[in-house]
Amino acid sequence: MSESMDIQELKNLKTELTRFMMAYKFALDEMNTKINILKEEFHYIHDYNPIEHVSSRVKSPDGILKKVMRKGHELSLSSIREQVKDIAGIRITCSFISDIYEISEMLKKQKDVKILNCKDYIQNPKPNGYQSLHLIVEIPIFMSDREEHIPVEIQIRTIAMDFWASLEHKIFYKYNKAVPGHLLTELKEAAITAGELDRKMERLHKEMTAIKELENEKTSKQLFLGIDEETFNLPTYLLESLTKKV
Ligand code: GTP
Ligand code: MG
Repeated sequence: MSESMDIQELKNLKTELTRFMMAYKFALDEMNTKINILKEEFHYIHDYNPIEHVSSRVKSPDGILKKVMRKGHELSLSSIREQVKDIAGIRITCSFISDIYEISEMLKKQKDVKILNCKDYIQNPKPNGYQSLHLIVEIPIFMSDREEHIPVEIQIRTIAMDFWASLEHKIFYKYNKAVPGHLLTELKEAAITAGELDRKMERLHKEMTAIKELENEKTSKQLFLGIDEETFNLPTYLLESLTKKV
């Protein structure tokens, strides 16, 4: 009798755990759809791809356990739900710094996206040089018999920031978290160089966009008015009188 109770309890626990993890998977599916929509629309409006790459993962049960132990939280599903906000995680790699903020604003504006936390490690890099924009958002997930509000961690960064973070991560684990001092200094310098590159690329991109906009404006005016380049350069008051309907 007690054995069958144990089996029943185990079955219940398994169902509870599966439902718990599934909710995070659904939250990722939902967020990925949102990001894809933004990506396509942004591409249409700005005529370039602001999002280079998107990756997502649900934290493994092992990873969740390690984090709970590391932070000294209580080991229960409700405590994990409350304390571990990065079970569902998405990383968005953008072309330019301004894209990071634009995408973050677009997400923040969505009615069903609640911002729980925002850490700007671009304005305020970590002491080791790490840069990224971190959002913890909460979104509703609708299932057959219930609605749940699930947190998702979104890390938004440029290609240069991502390049730096993945190397730093590798070095950190290679030296089992005791990285030699000279490597830490060099990593910090590399982070500063990456930041400079990002800002330079941003300036070039802005200049390019301005030229493109000017050209588009010219072409549409020419198409609309049916006039040539010389006429186009006439003072505004003359242009106005030329185009005035009689
Ligand atoms: P965790 O407890 O590790 O989740 O960190 P936290 O609660 O202090 O949050 P934070 O927003 O600072 O970091 C969350 C995640 O950002 C980490 O799990 C990493 O994926 C990434 N991250 C933060 N700092 C660094 C860093 O110095 N180097 C690298 N490579 N990644 C970092
Ligand atoms: Mg984490």
